[in-house]
Parts: sequence; structure tokens; C-alpha cells
Amino acid sequence: MTRTDLQPVAFPTERTCPFSPPPKLTELRDEHPVSRLAYPDGTDGWLVTGYAAARAVLNDPRFSSRGEHRRMAVGEGAPGPTRPGVFIFMDPPEHSRFRKLFTGEFTVRRTRNLEPKVERITADRIAAMRDIGPPVDLVREFALPIPSLVICELLGVPYEDHAFFQRHSETMLDYDRSMDEVVEAFQLMAEFLTRLVRLKRERPQDDLLSRVAASDLTDEEAAGSAMLVLTAGHETTAKMLGLGTYLLLSRPEQLALLRKDPSLIDGAVEEMLRYLSIVQFGIIRGATQDVELEGRRIRAGEVVTVALSAANRDGDAFQDPDALDLTRSAGRHLGFGYGVHQCVGQQLARVEMRVAFGQLIREFPGLHLAAAPDEIETTHLSSMYGVRRLPVGW
Ligand code: HEM
Repeated sequence: MTRTDLQPVAFPTERTCPFSPPPKLTELRDEHPVSRLAYPDGTDGWLVTGYAAARAVLNDPRFSSRGEHRRMAVGEGAPGPTRPGVFIFMDPPEHSRFRKLFTGEFTVRRTRNLEPKVERITADRIAAMRDIGPPVDLVREFALPIPSLVICELLGVPYEDHAFFQRHSETMLDYDRSMDEVVEAFQLMAEFLTRLVRLKRERPQDDLLSRVAASDLTDEEAAGSAMLVLTAGHETTAKMLGLGTYLLLSRPEQLALLRKDPSLIDGAVEEMLRYLSIVQFGIIRGATQDVELEGRRIRAGEVVTVALSAANRDGDAFQDPDALDLTRSAGRHLGFGYGVHQCVGQQLARVEMRVAFGQLIREFPGLHLAAAPDEIETTHLSSMYGVRRLPVGW
């Protein structure tokens, strides 16, 4: 079959179930796991929805992650210029130079050292929820602050700057703020991280930013990579905590399994990552050469969007893919991506989810939604899928 047999379609965003990919996206996968995509800017590219094809793209050096290929499948906004140090938009060997500085920061051992801090941060948020009293918006009081406080610890943000860091990192993700306010928060955070890099060079401590500042990176590169860690690690984890809690509260039989046997938590987290696949359409690559993929010819210069949500529900890769089964082994999921850019912070994300979901269900045996399902708004048009608010009681 040639490219002309396929009509480019817009990226489907309409969901019928808040926890499942848009039905049109999965129908597309079942018919054409590699299909033509119409981008909102009027150009055409490719949409990859099948599991095998997604892995093939993400593991193929002929597909580039560089910023100039970025084209959002949904929304009008054109991508801004790429800042120095933002290695998610680099290819090897430039990417490898940055990435190797960070892999050592997220080893199982280093991440375990952070676990007591994650425990304490989570316990503080649960205490704050009790102080406020039900109903509480779990997104505001729990899902958003936990990952940004963990990133404060990871980067080594001084305690007196935690409130500043918290305030601006939350504004960066606040859908109720104007574009000007969001841009200003990004700017203030970038300036703050540049000052922090200089401080860490002068007075190094035992934290990620001190070690990165001591490398051969420039101040701008070190601050840019710290900003990447913040933007890549905050919204993703927050969305998983909010949407994941909503999922557990909507599937009482699965939640009961977890309450009965808390040792299921590690597998449950993997299954939630697979099932929810919150990174919707931000996985973008540009072909640097002509590539043959599952019978289609992708031409050099064309842009490919990989829909992880559809790939993670592919029946060729997972048995009964649309069933949530917290006891299954979902380890091969693509929720953290695949290939050289696979999430460098995944061990930390796992610890955060294990601790946060674990404490939440232990401390609140009567946790329940405090709103009707049709009142729970999702962020189905943004590149990270999740819930905007989640009112809960206990
Ligand atoms: C549940 C939470 C998370 C999810 C679902 C997630 C997902 C992803 C995905 C899909 C990618 C690949 C992007 C691509 O191929 O273009 C990625 C990359 C990345 N993630 Fe995560 N992530 C999470 C948490 C974190 C955390 C906690 C951190 C750090 C604190 C982090 C830091 C990064 C960085 C720095 C990259 C870029 C890696 C590279 O380009 O080599 N992520 N993440």
C-alpha cells in the first residue's frame, strides 16, 4: 500500500471513557498502525499507534528528536526556540554527553536514598489534607505539590527557596492562569535556576545540581537541563497521581485488591502507567532519511507523532489490553517511552507513585470521590492527559 491510499486525519482527542484513549485512535491502530496525520498547521506527517511500530521508531537513529522537527498534533501553538541543555531535544552524540550526567543521578541506589524524603513529603501533604478537611481537591493539595517538592530535594533547592519554587512551578502548569502569567513563571524559574547553578559551583553540596554544575557544562546548559528535569518530572508525575487516584476510586474491585495486599503496589504502578499513558501526543520525531516502516515509506524531513496510549493498549503486545488488571506484569509498557530518550527519571517516578498511592490508600480507608464523574474535567487537549481537579472526601 502506498501513502496515497491513506487520507491524513487530525489527531483524535474525543474520549468516551476518561481512562481510555479516544476510540478513533485505537480504531486507527487496528486498521493502520502507521497512518497519515494532519497537523493543525496545515502540514501532513505520520501517526504511529501500533506497539511494534512505536518501539521501532523510538529505537531507530534515523528518527531525530531535535527541536526543529517539533510539531504539535493538537493546538495552535508553535514550539518555541530550544534552550541550551534541554537534552530531550538532542540526538546522539550531543544527547549522550548530557544524558550520561543524569543517568547516575537516577540509579536505583540514589533514588532509594530519596525515598525517606518522599515518605515525609507525602505524609506532610496528607496531614495538610486532614487540616483542610473534606472535600479537598487532591490535585492541588497532593498531586501537584509532591513531585515539585521531590524535585526541590533532588536538585538541592535551599529550604528558604522552596516556597518560591513551589509557587512558580505550579503556575507553570496552572490551566486557570493567563499565558502571560505562565510565561513569566517560566522566566522567573529559568533565572532562579541559573543563579542556583552559580551558587552550587561556589558552594557544592550533595545534590544533583552541584554535580551537574561541577561538570563541563556552561551555566546556561546546566540551568537548561535542570529546567528540563523540572518540566519533565513535575507535570507527568502530578498527572499520574491525580488521574491514577481517580482510576482507583472508579474501580473499587481493583482498589480492594491493593488494599488487601499492599505488596501488589509495584506491579499496580506499572499497570497504571500502561493503562493511563498520560503522555498523549508529545512524542515527536523527524525522519532524517527515507524509512520503510510496516510497509509505509516515510520520507526524509517528515514528522512522526507516536501515540503511546494506543500502543499501550495494543492486543498484539498485551493480553486483554483494555482491562485494568493490577496483578498483571505490564513491565513492557511504553509509558516511559523507549530507546535513547526513555525517561531518565523513571525510577524516581516509580518511588513517588509507590509511596504516594500507598500512603493515600492506607491513611484514608474511606477515600471517595466528592463530585459526580461528569463534573471531573480532563486535560484532553493538552499534551499531558489528566484531571484538572479531583474533589475527594474520606
Ligand atoms: C509518571 C511520571 C513520568 C512519566 C509518565 C514520564 C514519561 C516520559 C517519557 C515518555 C519520556 C520520553 C520522551 C521522548 O521520547 O521524547 C520521558 C523523558 C524524560 N523524563 Fe520522564 N516521565 C515521568 C517522570 C519523570 C521524572 C520524575 C523525571 C525527573 C525528575 C523525569 C525526567 C525526564 C527527562 C529528563 C527526560 C528526557 C530524557 C532524554 O531525553 O534522554 N521524568 N519521560
